[in-house]
Amino acid sequence: MLISARSEARQFVEPLGRRWLHVQAVADSAIGVADKLGLDSETLVAAAWLHDIGYADELRGTGFHPVDGARYLRRTGWNEEVVRLVAHHSCSRFEAGLRGMSGALGEFPRPSPDLEDALCFCDMTTGPGGERVTVVDRLAEIQARYGEGDVVGRFVEVARGDIVETVRRIEDRLLTAE
Ligand SMILES: [Fe+2]
Repeated sequence: MLISARSEARQFVEPLGRRWLHVQAVADSAIGVADKLGLDSETLVAAAWLHDIGYADELRGTGFHPVDGARYLRRTGWNEEVVRLVAHHSCSRFEAGLRGMSGALGEFPRPSPDLEDALCFCDMTTGPGGERVTVVDRLAEIQARYGEGDVVGRFVEVARGDIVETVRRIEDRLLTAE
């Protein structure tokens, strides 16, 4: 599963430029987190590779990348937990609400909370060029990149508390796992 996740991610995300650096680093981070926390590595790492494929032009449907990515993955027969993780990655439910896309996101049940938290941690502590960052800096960078008037900027405002809390939960577990 991991080899095909990586090659599928490469096909769709590499043409997007810098985002490919981000995705590779998120996958790398997922390997470490799954190992330290004893999580299902194959599922988490596959979802890390695939979490942003919905940004690819070829997969664009609704324009909301978690749903576009997850619909494609479901259509092409990916493991259902991977599909759910991609759909719900990094508190996408808040952005779905702002976009009037909660119904579309509802096609995908929530994944296992442990894996959902872990993927959020990996994504939200990896910057757009693949650098390790704090969650606070990551959210500030997203907001600066999109602007406060943009739906993604507003998403950061409404999701900030949940995202920070999720990252802290994983950080605490990583500390005690060491
Ligand atoms: Fe994403």
